[in-house]
Amino acid sequence: MTGLERMDNRKDGKFKMSSNVADNQKSSKNKDGILNRNILNKSNDLITMDKVPNNKRYKRYNYNKRSNDTNNTNNETNIYIKRKPLEKRNFKTILVTGGAGFIGSNFIHYLIEKHPNYKIINLDKLTYAGNLENLRDIEGRPNYKFVKGDICDRKIVANVFEQNQIDAVVNFAAESHVDRSIQDPGVFIQTDVYGVFVLLEACKKYGISVFLQISTDEVYGSIENGSFKETDPLLPNSPYAASKAGAEMIVRSFYKTYGTPILITRTSNNFGPYQYPEKLIPLFVTNLMEGKKVPLYGDGLNVRDWIYVTDNCEALDLVLHNGSIGQIYNIGAGNEKPNVWITKKLIELVGRDESYIQPVADRLGHDRRYSVDCSKIKKELGWEPKTNFEEALKQTVKWYMENENWWKPLKYKL
Ligand SMILES: NC(=O)c1ccc[n+]([C@@H]2O[C@H](COP(=O)([O-])OP(=O)(O)OC[C@H]3O[C@@H](n4cnc5c(N)ncnc54)[C@H](O)[C@@H]3O)[C@@H](O)[C@H]2O)c1
Repeated sequence: MTGLERMDNRKDGKFKMSSNVADNQKSSKNKDGILNRNILNKSNDLITMDKVPNNKRYKRYNYNKRSNDTNNTNNETNIYIKRKPLEKRNFKTILVTGGAGFIGSNFIHYLIEKHPNYKIINLDKLTYAGNLENLRDIEGRPNYKFVKGDICDRKIVANVFEQNQIDAVVNFAAESHVDRSIQDPGVFIQTDVYGVFVLLEACKKYGISVFLQISTDEVYGSIENGSFKETDPLLPNSPYAASKAGAEMIVRSFYKTYGTPILITRTSNNFGPYQYPEKLIPLFVTNLMEGKKVPLYGDGLNVRDWIYVTDNCEALDLVLHNGSIGQIYNIGAGNEKPNVWITKKLIELVGRDESYIQPVADRLGHDRRYSVDCSKIKKELGWEPKTNFEEALKQTVKWYMENENWWKPLKYKL
């Protein structure tokens, strides 16, 4: 849904929701060039509201039918606007790094759909996790360009900035699999920390409006009860989580020292189409499809908070356009489940039985529970996840079942 949502109080006393107020909006730019929209509603059937939604996300505008003045007179009409935040920023060219991976490719699809005027440059090294098949449907678009390259390579990064007038960077590029970080941490420090530094140096040199660092809830470490807030200390436990926490520190230092306009998001476990079949959900679904057992760590009671990738993309888009520079936003959908719950659900959806569960020794340093408090992004930016978790899980399983051609070559490349 785009534009402001209007809530009218009708004569019959019932609230009516409507999203189509574009014809009632007048646009103007303030001194900073930021777009304002004023509601000039000429409708005569609006009457003064006597019930005010007790919710800070609704803002009251007074509109005087006779004089257009905003003083509170008896002739006023009150309109209540659901504060879907207006976009503070607009971009021409966005550099998405790691756009051939799972979340990055979903995000590029999301951007192309939502902002067809933006030019998108996708810089990706195409590691084992990068897959151009994820973007096959958009590769010929005039406003999309793929560049193969490493974010740690200063020359390549400089060329990308020199050849394109980049005004925003969204950095997904990372080594992202915890198990691999336990086996071989060095490459995680190289890409996830040093690569971020190279990108920030380029941002400093060439100038940008926003650098959005995609981080993870894993930087906080484990929590038994309650949920982490953005102000809590970072206590990462795996080399992966530590590399992402290190990246955040570099990002913060560029903001504090050089004034680089940065934003950071810390998202919980994503799921959805195009996820590399080494991660829990696609690994288990594809194993079950192939009649193989699924390896469940420890007692299976480690808890993760799952978010459907499109809900995450929507949150990231909102932070990119409306987040307050220098801020960190947690993103999670509140779907906390023990791994054994997810496993049994996937078994049911694929049509196997519990004999397919293979308990295996626990992962080293395995965090027990991740949980993030998302009240900041909800309150400040009006974001809410839209997807029903079980329905999204069902659709995701269906996607892997229908797209063997996508995952089979990847699985056997492992
Ligand atoms: N998947 C999740 O649940 C999750 C949750 C929170 C945060 N994140 C973060 O989101 C980002 C994307 O995660 P994902 O699951 O899509 O990862 P992914 O492993 O599927 O994709 C990573 C992409 O980065 C590219 N890449 C790796 N090293 C690179 C380098 N040196 N230079 C350029 N490109 C490089 C890969 O080729 C790949 O396309 C990561 O930063 C990750 O830490 C992921």
